[in-house]
Amino acid sequence: MKLAVLPGDGIGKEIVAQAVKVLDVLKGEGAGIEMEYGHIGGAGYDAEGDPLPETTLKLSREADAVLLGAVGGPQYDKLDRPLRPERGLLRIRKELNLFANLRPALLYPELAGASSLKPEVVAGLDIMIVRELTGDVYFGQPRGIEMRVGPNGQGERVGFNTMIYSESEVRRVAHVAFGIALKRGRRLCSVEKANVLECSELWRDVVAEVAKEYPEVELSSLYVDNAAMQLVRNPKQFDVIVTGNIFGDILSDQASMLSGSIGMLPSASLDEHNKGMYEPIHGSAPDIAGRDIANPLATILSVAMMYRYTFADAATADRIETAVKKVIAQGYRTGDIWTEGTNRVSCSAMGDAVVAAM
Ligand code: IPM
Ligand code: MG
Repeated sequence: MKLAVLPGDGIGKEIVAQAVKVLDVLKGEGAGIEMEYGHIGGAGYDAEGDPLPETTLKLSREADAVLLGAVGGPQYDKLDRPLRPERGLLRIRKELNLFANLRPALLYPELAGASSLKPEVVAGLDIMIVRELTGDVYFGQPRGIEMRVGPNGQGERVGFNTMIYSESEVRRVAHVAFGIALKRGRRLCSVEKANVLECSELWRDVVAEVAKEYPEVELSSLYVDNAAMQLVRNPKQFDVIVTGNIFGDILSDQASMLSGSIGMLPSASLDEHNKGMYEPIHGSAPDIAGRDIANPLATILSVAMMYRYTFADAATADRIETAVKKVIAQGYRTGDIWTEGTNRVSCSAMGDAVVAAM
């Protein structure tokens, strides 16, 4: 298996190094993994003047999977939009056609106290959000800021974007979501805003059509505002959620905080052949970069997802996830999840603990 490793910015290098330790264990046991490094985000801009350099794109296209750390940092905020780190991330998603973004929100029982919700509301939480990742208002044309005639007859600036989904885009992500629901609790909730938006009306119709092919899965629909409310009222009512790019961006951040620990949550972004990019859902945390205190578990768990979805090796995925559960049960905690009475460790010590647990 060929793996493109893109540490990116901020804490990206530190957390990816811990995930690579896990991969090295598997390599040492004979797994055929080849790793090659590339620049992305601010690191791409610094090294090659582009947040997604050609070399990185080529490396990623040729790889079976991509492991990404994080992108972004305050030093890049003043750059022109196309040169900003975030644009590198959006472009690689689009270029590799990674349309299905899987964002689990799972609460480890030992961390229930870290949630801002009551422990009984979140205990046992296990949701999978499937976010469409290459369409919607993120990529729709036309978009821009331009001068138009205002109410007083004078020119004023207007900003505009286009929310757009085609049937085929909705259909393919719906199939992924139904497929995942089949392997889990067999309940899928489609989230849109069909009471206001035509784009959402189409989304709802197409998801309902696809549902006919999955009679074992119970489909429900919610408007996004109601879904946001239900997610904090009673999050355990959900099994799998499927939604568009912008709603999924917002709801997945919200869902991640139910678990109290954004540093624990991995993600997968898949194309139709299960090639994937794997990354923690948290950002580059420039404020703590370089201090060896970041939580590497989301990145390590992203490697588990890589084994599950791209390498179709559930046994190894389970083994990595079990090792993470074990270090949590043993009381190892990085600062973000530390509570009185547990053992505060550095990023690299956490990586070592997972390796030992494996
Ligand atoms: C995410 C992030 C990105 C997004 C940003 C950094 C472009 O918020 O992965 O959720 O909006 O998709
Ligand atoms: Mg986001």
